[in-house]
Amino acid sequence: MSRYTHSASWYDTVSAEPIYRVGRERVIPALHLREGSRVLDIGCGTGLNFPLLLAAVGGSGQVVGVDRSREMLEVARRKTIQAPPGNVALVEADAEQLDHVAVGLDGSGATFDAVLFTYSLSLMGNWEAAWRQATCLVRPGGRAGIVDMEPPHGWARLLDPAARLACLLGGADINARPWTLLEGTAHEVQSWSLRGGHVQVRAGTL
Ligand SMILES: C[S@@+](CC[C@H](N)C(=O)[O-])C[C@H]1O[C@@H](n2cnc3c(N)ncnc32)[C@H](O)[C@@H]1O
Repeated sequence: MSRYTHSASWYDTVSAEPIYRVGRERVIPALHLREGSRVLDIGCGTGLNFPLLLAAVGGSGQVVGVDRSREMLEVARRKTIQAPPGNVALVEADAEQLDHVAVGLDGSGATFDAVLFTYSLSLMGNWEAAWRQATCLVRPGGRAGIVDMEPPHGWARLLDPAARLACLLGGADINARPWTLLEGTAHEVQSWSLRGGHVQVRAGTL
């Protein structure tokens, strides 16, 4: 059973948004979304990215959130109940075994304009597979974004025990550096190191 089964109802309260929200605020504009865009949010959890994503894609666009935790998706669903029909789709699936049917594409090809992983890729056992399968669903020239964590640097090393504890509790591998996948496969890569290096943000063109 996933650790996100029981924590879904209090995830938003303990997710330290004053520290981690900065990653969402930096990466989402870098996805170059516009009215009508379709974006895939992998490991979307309770939908903390959704207000920013929905503001970017507008009423004619679509946010598709994928998560393997039904309980996290249920919290996300309750938050988006007012959205226009089709504006948000939630898919319960393991991102390491994603297929086109699972995200409602019916095998019709790469139709997303962007894909996003915030604080989720380093939790996945086979994050290379999750990255490969998700990016296959994005059109050529579309954008990808990753926000993840590493140990803080410099003065912020004082915060290292707290950062490691947050990652341990969340199940993230603080040493995984999964954004290296984006750096190796995308072009026009943008990079930000925030919160003393603890929050790492990458965005690029596929
Ligand atoms: C730390 S939460 C982050 C949630 C959200 N992206 C955010 O920024 O708040 C990690 C999420 O990734 C999901 N997750 C972990 N491994 C997964 C996998 N293999 N496939 C799909 N979702 C996964 C968990 O269920 C959880 O909801």
